[in-house]
Amino acid sequence: MNLLPCLLIFLLYKQVESDDCANYILNSNAVSLNKINGKCIAVPNTAFSGSAAASCSDTGNGVQFVKLSIDSKEENDFVANGLKAIPYKMAYIGLGHSVAGWEWMNGDSSIYRNWAHPPDAPTAEPTTEPSTLPPAEQRRSTAVVIGIDASLFSTNSLTFAQVEFARSLSAYIGARGPAEFAFFAYGCAQMSPYMNQYPNFVSTFVDTDTMIRNLNETINHDCVRTNPLDFRSMFRDQTVYYNRYTTSYRPFKSQFLSMIYFSSSTDSDNIKAASSLYPMADSSVITINIGDKSIDISPLSIPVGKNGIRVKTADDILGLVPKIDSMIFGTTAAAAGGASKEFKEPSIDATTYTDCAYMNVTDKLWYSDGECTTERQVLCQYVLPTPPTPNPTISWQDPCFYETTTFKYFESLHNAKCYRVSSEKKQFVDAENLCLSKHPLFLHTPKLTSIETKIEEDQVRTLIHTQPLVNEGMFWFGLKRDPSNSSNWYFINGDTYDSSYQNWRSGYPRDADGCDCVALVINDNSWVNTDCNKQLYSICAFQFNFTDTAF
Ligand SMILES: *[C@@H]1O[C@H](CO)[C@@H](O)[C@H](O)[C@H]1NC(C)=O
Ligand SMILES: *[C@@H]1O[C@H](CO)[C@@H](O)[C@H](O)[C@H]1NC(C)=O
Ligand SMILES: *[C@@H]1O[C@H](CO)[C@@H](O)[C@H](O)[C@H]1NC(C)=O
Ligand SMILES: *[C@@H]1O[C@H](CO)[C@@H](O)[C@H](O)[C@H]1NC(C)=O
Repeated sequence: MNLLPCLLIFLLYKQVESDDCANYILNSNAVSLNKINGKCIAVPNTAFSGSAAASCSDTGNGVQFVKLSIDSKEENDFVANGLKAIPYKMAYIGLGHSVAGWEWMNGDSSIYRNWAHPPDAPTAEPTTEPSTLPPAEQRRSTAVVIGIDASLFSTNSLTFAQVEFARSLSAYIGARGPAEFAFFAYGCAQMSPYMNQYPNFVSTFVDTDTMIRNLNETINHDCVRTNPLDFRSMFRDQTVYYNRYTTSYRPFKSQFLSMIYFSSSTDSDNIKAASSLYPMADSSVITINIGDKSIDISPLSIPVGKNGIRVKTADDILGLVPKIDSMIFGTTAAAAGGASKEFKEPSIDATTYTDCAYMNVTDKLWYSDGECTTERQVLCQYVLPTPPTPNPTISWQDPCFYETTTFKYFESLHNAKCYRVSSEKKQFVDAENLCLSKHPLFLHTPKLTSIETKIEEDQVRTLIHTQPLVNEGMFWFGLKRDPSNSSNWYFINGDTYDSSYQNWRSGYPRDADGCDCVALVINDNSWVNTDCNKQLYSICAFQFNFTDTAF
């Protein structure tokens, strides 16, 4: 990446960094120790027992604090000095002892330790009645993703039963504590804005209800059941989505994903090979086959083959709610029947700790509480938004990169847009559809591009000149005549078309019949309106979100 966007991105990032931690902390509930190593550290005013999972949750002002982990001597000294200044003499540090040994409760794998005395060897005495954390704490760290079969293999009543299942499961889980949800329907041939938005993560149940309504609307009005279930593409998109965006999209930053896929498909071809694309880290997949004839997709479940369910009727689908809840969240759910033991539990605060460590401010050393029951201050942290770890298969240098697609970023434009020249000549309307092809629709919706400035037009034209297409005279972009007022033109991607930049050829736009679509002309660097049925190459673009891309 060249200097310019680096600088821009650096500035954006710096802005986050320089935010005072106090903004993230509910000051009446906690004291801020300020920031170190990209995280805000706070001490709630209330004293808690060491294993109290709720201890950090009221600390954040719109963000989620979890228990502190200490990764270095520098951080340890920083925390000790901060505590001293308040003053507190000691505080729990978020290191707990469970059957797995001593570990950071927030999932951090740092091996830095500063014990006063090395703690006793683990007493591997399992308690007779293993207690679990309140379900709310588990639920907080698990995102539930539901894929609804709206393909030609399904029927209206089965599809609506799945929507109702999604509504009912989210309510069931929601009543037991906050969680994240994403819903999407697949198998529809037509795209609608809602289709492209899924999965969306939401943190409130008002939002969940809205999502369900929108999803249902989409299925009712915009879904044409002509597609087979393309598991391979779907899994690929999901994998890219979650690996690339990690938790930056998701307010709860769940560590664990539970995916539920419905399928009525009787076509084995599109199911084959999908499983090679999994697993994603920290995910489980529950597959639900509907009807006797549908191809068994349980081999796509994670753990492989273990989480397949088969049901027959709409009522059976609705009846799955407690069972699925139990499969996702284990024995804490009211109803049994799931394969809960096969599941990896969410990693945050979801283990039972039998001993907890605290820091003694005087000597800055760590001591074991012996149990976790003494009430004292607890240290909490919020990791500030930072660049995600690059996925080795994905180029982080290029914000427009996506697998096999070829969108291009123009650093000089600073407009967070990615451009691509189409691979085929199409009529205007088909060119619009072509923009959507070979792109993960969960992420963005490429459309024929707007052109808002001369610099942008110049850049777009360089794109054409790098293709073996220079000899093509004209290229569609996203400007079209307003059907309600023939002297108006509009950008189909919603950008504003106005007099601040236009590049019509002299004498254009013409008022000719059917000349309602606009093309770039190469040889005289102009725009002309022409017959929308002309077959031309075209230029697509999508806008990415700087925040989400999170360099
Ligand atoms: C979805 O739409 C169908 C058809 O209009 C309706 O019968 C059903 O109740 C809706 N489901 C939900 C959960 O809104
Ligand atoms: C970009 O992403 C952030 C964080 O997910 C979100 O708050 C913001 O609204 C997004 N911006 C746009 C323009 O979508
Ligand atoms: C804290 O450290 C000081 C100095 O080493 C020691 O005197 C004191 O006993 C320690 N307190 C606890 C509770 O460990
Ligand atoms: C049509 O659009 C033109 C140009 O924007 C405007 O001047 C004119 O008033 C509009 N006509 C109607 C009927 O809205």
